Amino acid sequence: MRPKAQPGSPVEWEGRLRSESPLKIMVMAHGRGSGTYTKIKASMMENAKLSLDGQEYDLPVVTGTEGERGIDITSLRGESGAITLDSGYGNTGSCQSSICFINGEQGILRYRGFPIEQLAENASFAEVCYLLIYGELPTADQLKAFSGGLTNHSMIHEDMKKFFEGYPASAHPMAVLSSMIASLATYYPKIEGDEDEDLNFIRVLAKAKTIAAWAYKKSIGQPLVYPLNHLSYCGNFLNMMFSVPTEDYQASPVVENALNVLLILHADHEQNCSTSTVRMVASSQANIFASLSAGICALWGPLHGGANQKVLEMLEMIRADGADYKKYVNLAKDRDSEFRLMGFGHRVYKNFDPRATILRKACDEVLEELGVDDPLLDIAKQLEDVALNDDYFIERKLYPNVDFYSGVLYRAMGIPTNMFTVMFALGRLPGWISHLKELRDDPGSRINRPRQVYTGATQRDYVPLDQR
Ligand code: ACO
Repeated sequence: MRPKAQPGSPVEWEGRLRSESPLKIMVMAHGRGSGTYTKIKASMMENAKLSLDGQEYDLPVVTGTEGERGIDITSLRGESGAITLDSGYGNTGSCQSSICFINGEQGILRYRGFPIEQLAENASFAEVCYLLIYGELPTADQLKAFSGGLTNHSMIHEDMKKFFEGYPASAHPMAVLSSMIASLATYYPKIEGDEDEDLNFIRVLAKAKTIAAWAYKKSIGQPLVYPLNHLSYCGNFLNMMFSVPTEDYQASPVVENALNVLLILHADHEQNCSTSTVRMVASSQANIFASLSAGICALWGPLHGGANQKVLEMLEMIRADGADYKKYVNLAKDRDSEFRLMGFGHRVYKNFDPRATILRKACDEVLEELGVDDPLLDIAKQLEDVALNDDYFIERKLYPNVDFYSGVLYRAMGIPTNMFTVMFALGRLPGWISHLKELRDDPGSRINRPRQVYTGATQRDYVPLDQR
């Protein structure tokens, strides 16, 4: 039904929404940089009415290409003096975006229109990076050039090696990764004009895996391993993580393939906490390295990307406590306890997380192929079964999320627990970059600056110290 847009040619398409309201979509294709991307603009054909203090305000309704509707309140404060209040932003659209589509009720996730299941099955991580950043799957030549860039820019400045020496061996690799990515700005300080922007995307994607592997090597006191240009993105990372100068190392194809799938599954997830952070920081026109470093810090939290580490720690705790998983399901339901089943629940997915479905299957396959018999996987499955049949979890629509099985898989691949969130960050980098690019390319973007409803003390006079 939707026409394919040709670069540079605006196409208009009319159809009907499920609600039978008229829908008009403008499709515009732009040639950008080395690739081509398609930007689909949402339509504004309806109005919502807001009544406040006896006054009525007409607010345009914006409809996206998948029929999602948002009430555009851009003019609300100017016209009425009022703002909207939405703690946690559960009802707030912060932007229009053509990168990632999620339908949490139906468990749908698509990057640039392509279902996650198809990408996980068929694509390489480099292809997905290109797709997210430039909007289209690369041709063979484009992929060759892009992958070549990821290979050729994977070394980091020799001086940066000294930074690693300064961190304590116990440093969390997320702290190291975020500060190292921010530090790249000291080596590439040129204000990003057009020609440097694409190069910086490549640089950060290529160097992040070297930084991540070196953070791990430093933590275990082994020599840092340099990237090798004949290896794939995933193979190179595994080599830098696990090879030592005294032995030959060959990454298992099963592990390399599993890593490719994991990175693809994590590559984007629209306006989540870390992506919104990247957009927030980038909206001040901060450089790419500063913006991505902020995203890494946001991802670190246990309610977000840090959950994969917490899932493993939770499973280990349950095993150490006699594998009594029912006790922990009950604890998670107890209002007097702060305990939550890590890896369960999602702000958006209220049916199932399609990434968790792919990973549950991958877990079985990879563990079998590697000959790993992990009791934690059994506990994870039992926990899932109990929770999925429990009224508390059913009523609240709490299902396993992507992090529930990724930890078990990483563990089988030999990745240490404190590196799990770093793995997530490596996967999410192309998503963050594509959002940063989308924001920068949008001529209408402004610095992000939310408002608040003030609830503090009203004006009062200063009291001198001796009178308090
Ligand atoms: N275990 C037990 N109860 C839970 C859980 C859980 N994992 N998650 C939510 N609930 C309960 C809450 O206590 C609340 O119950 P109530 O209505 O009786 O008060 C209800 O479900 C709704 O929870 P909220 O916290 O309001 O849901 P929200 O959408 O704000 O949070 C979140 C989503 C943060 C993912 C939450 O489900 C959670 O903390 N999960 C565990 C951490 C986790 O796995 N995070 C990874 C998310 S995926 C990712 O970032 C890649």
